[in-house]
Amino acid sequence: MKPRPKDVIKQAACAFDAELHTRAYSTTHADSAQLDRLLSFLPTKDNQVLLDLATGAGYVAMELAHRYPQASVVGLDIAEGAIAKNIELAEQMKLRNIRFSVFDGITLPFEADRFSAVFCRYGLHHFPLLHTTLAEIDRTLQKTGKVIIADAVKSGRDDSDFINKFQHLKRDGHVRMYTKGELVRIFKRYGLLLEEVFESSLTFTRASTDEYEQLISTTCTPALAAYDLSTANGFIQLTLPIFNGVFVRQSA
Ligand SMILES: C[S@@+](CC[C@H](N)C(=O)[O-])C[C@H]1O[C@@H](n2cnc3c(N)ncnc32)[C@H](O)[C@@H]1O
Repeated sequence: MKPRPKDVIKQAACAFDAELHTRAYSTTHADSAQLDRLLSFLPTKDNQVLLDLATGAGYVAMELAHRYPQASVVGLDIAEGAIAKNIELAEQMKLRNIRFSVFDGITLPFEADRFSAVFCRYGLHHFPLLHTTLAEIDRTLQKTGKVIIADAVKSGRDDSDFINKFQHLKRDGHVRMYTKGELVRIFKRYGLLLEEVFESSLTFTRASTDEYEQLISTTCTPALAAYDLSTANGFIQLTLPIFNGVFVRQSA
């Protein structure tokens, strides 16, 4: 049975609160070259109002606030503890143009046409109601606004949906990784067209368990090779392909 959206969100909030502000998380997830390229998608305009959706430990939001003192930045997430820590850190860093908020994981608590750009890095695959989230992004985005996305995608060589089965075993509110083509088509339904794209990758290790071993042993080699999967000393290492793209409104 498909889990209820609110249970998925609760599981994600709990798992990420324990992980986001750890050294292990930042070592695996930081990528300054990718961050630079994502931020370069932003038009240079004064007085921008920017949303970092699924901000986590504020990796994108803090950098936006730091680089663009004239902009007003909002970091939104479901993980209350991480958001409280972000508020503390932003105060220590004397970032006056940023605020962080917690929300229900579905409805963006903002009026229509608020944001000049919405960023979402590594969050899409956790949204239990992706279509509602995209409708919410569309509602809160200004007419000429941009949506700047980075997310892990399923490889076209992964016929057995290995990566989604693998990620579900972590029980951190994983919902679904799409292929790049699927993502572009879903965004198009909301009038959001891909303007520019680049690829990056994210490599991580995870302690193995019987469940992981069983899954790996029953998955065909090309699917495992698509993620450069290797195992050694009780750990599994794999590399996720990352889709980075900027979308603009069809009517813009
Ligand atoms: C892999 S982390 C990415 C965090 C950050 N954007 C980064 O680049 O490091 C995924 C984030 O998505 C958040 N998340 C999960 N489900 C969410 C939802 N329904 N709405 C908003 N954020 C959600 C988690 O709390 C977590 O902070």
